[in-house]
Amino acid sequence: MVVPEPGLPTRVRIHEVGARDGLQNEKTAVPTKVKAEFIRRLRTAGLTTIEATSFVHPKWVPQLADAEELFPQISDVDAELPVLVPNQRGLDRALALGARRIAVFASATESFAKANLNRTVDESLAVFEPVVRQAKDAGAHVRGYVSMCFGDPWEGEVPLPQVVRVCTALRDMGCDELSLGDTIGVATPGQVRALLTLLDEAGLPTAELGVHFHDTYGQALANTYAALQHGVTTVDASAGGLGGCPYAKSATGNLATEDLVWMLRGLGIETGVDLEALTATSVWMAGHLGRPSPSRTVRALGPTTQPDKDQ
Ligand code: HMG
Ligand code: MG
Repeated sequence: MVVPEPGLPTRVRIHEVGARDGLQNEKTAVPTKVKAEFIRRLRTAGLTTIEATSFVHPKWVPQLADAEELFPQISDVDAELPVLVPNQRGLDRALALGARRIAVFASATESFAKANLNRTVDESLAVFEPVVRQAKDAGAHVRGYVSMCFGDPWEGEVPLPQVVRVCTALRDMGCDELSLGDTIGVATPGQVRALLTLLDEAGLPTAELGVHFHDTYGQALANTYAALQHGVTTVDASAGGLGGCPYAKSATGNLATEDLVWMLRGLGIETGVDLEALTATSVWMAGHLGRPSPSRTVRALGPTTQPDKDQ
């Protein structure tokens, strides 16, 4: 039954990250043609922003080392296909293949900046500055991720002004949108509201913010609801709840796209996603990965024949 709630947006844009955030963390190497098929099926299920891969160092993330092979295989998919780039080399590789949406990824904490990018926070921002400028000059849309917005496995609680500083720096260098990452899934709704309020006060428009919740403690949907109440309309999620970050201890899957769509559909919020087709896609992918999707909605709607063994 659809029962709208006052004060929520009427439409949400889902930024699907399963093919990137999801697959970057899989022990199993997923063949390039399966990734391409996954992206096609996500599009068929109604997703229009599908993060495709990363142009990072292949030794750092071997699961996505096939970016050069994959990207041309999906160039005809009628969707926005953002790709991650960590530096100039990554941008050159992405632009050479015609990428139109790129994402740089910063950290609110020094420990994760070092673990993920081998740089301090300020060094990584200095790397991003010319990358963002050149991407914009090339006509690309640029997203800036900020990881560890709410908690960090090495540093614990993250002071919110630290997050605001990095968000402001990315915005000032020209990022079109920011994505606030709860990389290890520890946030709770009050924290989300507090950060969004501080970002308002710092002059960062809510319309340019997305939220990126991992679901480690089962809080991703509650946190998303808090963000929607604040006016956020871009939500990152991963089909079937795939995901994690190989360079963050205790990061598990993202908010599952199906769980998100179930809630939004019940609230009468448009997403354009066909939940049944998406669930079938996640069940199909679970078959390739050899283990069931952690998404509650996929488990509820999908066939009982999902693979049931962890690899
Ligand atoms: P580094 O070792 O400091 O690299 O790594 P470097 O700049 O010293 O260069 C060393 C060599 O790597 C050079 O080659 C470069 O050319 C090469 P050599 O001259 O020695 O032959 N190199 C590259 N090759 C291919 N593509 C590149 C590239 N860059 C340099 N782009 C680096 C620094 C940034 C490269 C490395 O740390 C890296 O690749 N990190 C990526 C980590 C990553 O992808 N993490 C996961 C994504 S972030 C995430 O999941 C969080 C998010 O979901 C939000 C959230 O949940 O919070 C977004
Ligand atoms: Mg992530």
